[in-house]
Amino acid sequence: MERHVVHGRRRMLAVGSAMLAFACATPAAAQSAGQWKNGQHVYAKVCANCHDSGVGPVIKGRGLDPGHFQHVVRHGQKAMPAFRHTEIDDGALRQVAEMLSKSLPPGLHE
Ligand code: HEC
Repeated sequence: MERHVVHGRRRMLAVGSAMLAFACATPAAAQSAGQWKNGQHVYAKVCANCHDSGVGPVIKGRGLDPGHFQHVVRHGQKAMPAFRHTEIDDGALRQVAEMLSKSLPPGLHE
């Protein structure tokens, strides 16, 4: 089998593939509310797919308000999809928002 590897993907293509990867991961992740251990778990399984890969902007270590995270996650913003309560419940969203608002920039790990 010959594999075709495309180098130098453009940003929109990267967004598209990240969303596709995310869409495939969603059914398992959305099985039940309350599946999240803590904010770090949500970030690692959901947000990091885009926000640690250059698809979305860096959101750690910027001192963004927890309310801003909660708003963007529930309503989406341009290329970022909105997440329903069944995907990320309110408690887990509050935890990830608090964690991110207090986090250090990438590279300066705890
Ligand atoms: C499918 C990819 C994707 C996923 C998954 C994703 N985001 Fe995003 N996010 C984006 C993109 C792209 C943007 C930039 C949108 C724009 O152009 O305004 C963004 C923007 C944001 C912003 C606004 C940043 C700013 O500068 O104001 C916040 C906050 C945010 N995301 C939080 C999260 C959180 C929290 C999660 C996890 C629950 C998450 N995102 C998951 C793609 C994603």
